[in-house]
Amino acid sequence: MVSLTADMSPLRPDRNLAMELVRATEAASIRAVPFIGRGAKEEADGAAVDAMRAFLRTVNFDGRIVIGEGEKDNAPMLFNGEHVGSGQGMQCDVAVDPIDGTTLTAMGRNNALSVIAVADRGTMLDASSVFYMDKLVTGPAGVGVVDIRLPIGENIRLLAKALGKPVEEMVVSVLHRPRHEKLIQEIREAGAGTRLMTDGDVAGGINAARHNARTDMCVGVGGSPEGIVTACAIKALGGHIQGRLWPQTDDEEQRGRDAGLKFDGHVYEADELVASDNTIFVATGVTDGQLVAGVRREGDYIYTESVVLRSASGTLRRVSSEHLVSKWFG
Ligand code: FBP
Repeated sequence: MVSLTADMSPLRPDRNLAMELVRATEAASIRAVPFIGRGAKEEADGAAVDAMRAFLRTVNFDGRIVIGEGEKDNAPMLFNGEHVGSGQGMQCDVAVDPIDGTTLTAMGRNNALSVIAVADRGTMLDASSVFYMDKLVTGPAGVGVVDIRLPIGENIRLLAKALGKPVEEMVVSVLHRPRHEKLIQEIREAGAGTRLMTDGDVAGGINAARHNARTDMCVGVGGSPEGIVTACAIKALGGHIQGRLWPQTDDEEQRGRDAGLKFDGHVYEADELVASDNTIFVATGVTDGQLVAGVRREGDYIYTESVVLRSASGTLRRVSSEHLVSKWFG
């Protein structure tokens, strides 16, 4: 077996895997163009899924989807357990989210991304049996400082101290949901500001962990697949991520237990979310956001912006591409 870890030499061609994967997120974003802001959430997602799958087939790796579009019967493609790629080369776990923010896309709102994350085979937590996860994400300053078990006000004060800035300048992003009413109130009572996200906590998490970003922390309950995807990016950014599964029913919790997941307040640290220290995360903008600009069609061209993060090198690369409309929608 060839592993990502074994192939870390700067001269090995596997470094190109990250760049190859961008083609798949670019394709997903481009195919979503006709549906952006058109109220067509499912059509946008379907087009992105088809495009991502077609491109993944051409990528030179042996990928197994751990976080996909769901179980085989409900998700005809990119289902959990499906093998993607040429079947040659590195054996990887793969998490895909052809569009994180399908509603954002349908509404033409900011922050929708097309995302792929990969890690060494067998290292990604399969949390798909439990829909939600409570998460705490920060940049490198939060490592060894914040803890999801502490009250939010305490975490804000600790992180502010580590960042060397007043609490009043702290900004915390959180999904704008009724379940977060108390959390939002506590953040404000602690003296920090909130950035309430309508959707898209993958972008929210990454923005909180990025150097020089406008938010310091991303907290609250979002999708657990999104938590795994985010963890792959956070490993490359050197940030902090913790998660706690948040089942909504006893049945859901039991399904999680049957799948080997841990409850009773168990905190999944970054290394339990993704055990590998060699992760790749790629994302292309579907709609504009702080992380990347959204895909844009203008005249004969379609413009995309993507980020490529590799934990082996700790690099965040930006990739801007111009695509001929005639090649895509000819
Ligand atoms: P979709 O693109 O699948 O709609 O997910 C968007 C999203 O906002 C995620 O970013 C987030 O993790 C999750 O939904 C939150 O779920 P909910 O909307 O049920 O609160």
